[in-house]
Amino acid sequence: MCGIVGYVGSKDSIPVLLRGLKRLEYRGYDSAGVAVLHENNLHFIKKAGKVSSLQSFIDDTTIKGNLGIAHTRWATHGEPNDINAHPHIDHTEKIALVHNGIIENYDSIKQALIKRGVPFTSNTDSEVLVQLISELYYNNNEKISFEDAVRAALQEVIGAYGIVVICKDEPNKLIAARMGSPLVLGIGEGEFLIASDASPIIEYTRNVIYLDDNELVTIDDGHYSISKIDSKNIVNKTLTKIDLTIEEIEKGEFPHFMLKEIHDQQHSISDTMRGRFNLEDGTTQLGGISDYFSNILSASRIYITACGTSWHAGLIGKHLIEEYARVPVHVEYASEFRYRNVIIDSDTILIAISQSGETADTLAAIRKTKKLGAITLGICNVVGSTISRETHAGIFTHTGPEIGVASTKAFTAQLTILIMLALKLGRKKNVSKNRGKKLIRALRDIDQDVVSILKNSDEVKKVAKNTWKANNFLYLGRGVNFPIALEGALKLKEISYIHAEGYPAAEMKHGPIALIDENMPVVFIAPQDDSFSKVLANIEEVKARNGIIITITDKKNNLLESLSDYILTIPNTHKHVFPITCSIILQMLAYELAICRGCEIDQPRNLAKSVTVE
Ligand code: AGP
Ligand code: GLU
Repeated sequence: MCGIVGYVGSKDSIPVLLRGLKRLEYRGYDSAGVAVLHENNLHFIKKAGKVSSLQSFIDDTTIKGNLGIAHTRWATHGEPNDINAHPHIDHTEKIALVHNGIIENYDSIKQALIKRGVPFTSNTDSEVLVQLISELYYNNNEKISFEDAVRAALQEVIGAYGIVVICKDEPNKLIAARMGSPLVLGIGEGEFLIASDASPIIEYTRNVIYLDDNELVTIDDGHYSISKIDSKNIVNKTLTKIDLTIEEIEKGEFPHFMLKEIHDQQHSISDTMRGRFNLEDGTTQLGGISDYFSNILSASRIYITACGTSWHAGLIGKHLIEEYARVPVHVEYASEFRYRNVIIDSDTILIAISQSGETADTLAAIRKTKKLGAITLGICNVVGSTISRETHAGIFTHTGPEIGVASTKAFTAQLTILIMLALKLGRKKNVSKNRGKKLIRALRDIDQDVVSILKNSDEVKKVAKNTWKANNFLYLGRGVNFPIALEGALKLKEISYIHAEGYPAAEMKHGPIALIDENMPVVFIAPQDDSFSKVLANIEEVKARNGIIITITDKKNNLLESLSDYILTIPNTHKHVFPITCSIILQMLAYELAICRGCEIDQPRNLAKSVTVE
């Protein structure tokens, strides 16, 4: 959600900032802007719309400068227009600020400032920060430094923020601070960058520092120092070397990141598993959680918490952990968990699943659980992310950066980790070596399964061409495939804006069946497993009401063929690996439907890649 970039160094900051904003586009945004200091002047340009249109406005000017800040806004307060776009400038026109997050007490601060005669120009919560800093710096009985004015302002606000701020009267200084919204400091040769994640930084340096909450960094004349916002105490942080490559964050020959990431699954699931199998013993190795493994084994209950797609992975995790390890698992949306009187004691384990590792609700659920004295584990994709740093231990999915807003390869990686975790726990309990080996063998074959699924692309396109005009889709699956139905429906909603619902197949009779007519495509997840005959009966019920039947199966038969309007066949595999392979064909279907409808795919309207506000 929202992107921040700041630069100070020997280069002209404008191209660096614009390239950085482009790299952050995937996070989702509605407006963009930059501000730079040059020859004692503060210049800024901000516009609703895309970074490319901001760029063309900038191209018509001569603005430049060695120090600047930039922002892509995902509006929370005030509509997405030019005035509400960031950077916000104080009324003296000397200070510029970009903000990610929400200032909850903005209205009371704004009213107090208005009483003091401060004029406001935007409807955002963010503007209060820059006006407050300005008041504290320029209109204060006691003279304080710019840095102290920033500190003092931050101590008055309640809410979440990542900010970068510059001032015309301190032309070599760039100040950034974080409380709840991620910021990374890049330390290059004679230059510094600040950004919401590492992607704008890696072209310039691989040396980064991840800021933590309540930390403020001041970069001044080629030096940086990090201190606590409230106490001013200096913090000594460790430098991290990032190994992200440029290729990983570019889409190469693919028209969209989502399609690239769907194709990445030919190797990314294996990347997740690399070095983590022990086929001989029918088990897995998960080094990241070894210190807490015995606690998980003896836990009285496990909570899994997450949002969106990661929550769907959690639902499958419950199924698998209960099946293999026989430990009760509760799966909760983090946004509900954080405000509920959940039952947590020292025998409870919380597993938080998050691709980005920055989702605000998931982070809040972790913090709450830690306060209540339980162990928290993370399943994250982004190394260095807040969740990966704040949990007691965790497992990285190692699937490479996921840029498309619609999660694809991160989901299959999460499922892979959950299978490996369930099996590892199960092998310490009653699961036999042979049972373990069977599961591992199926996982080992997954690359070739994915290759064969991707070969269905013409079939998938055909389904899409004939169904894209539908206003509603229903996805049905049973058991471990019910969450896959939910995920298939979410994928479709996100990128094609078609309304879609996922249901357990047998629940159809309890309501959704009322929706079925000749215009309603119903996607059935129908592997030839124990539930096949039951799902077949549901297919008959839809057929009887003239619904359009799209069946995903691992084995066709005559009856299935005669009932289905379209059949997509994927390789036969272990029943607990099937959800992974099945979700890939559903990703392809959502993608092709969105293409037919001419949708944006990588940056769907209103969505942010990582929801860092509540
Ligand atoms: C997935 O397609 C969505 N964009 C969204 O539901 C996402 O899974 C959710 O916001 C959680 O994100 P996280 O995994 O980064 O915590
Ligand atoms: N709350 C701020 C606004 O609406 C910042 C939003 C963001 O994080 O982009 O302008």
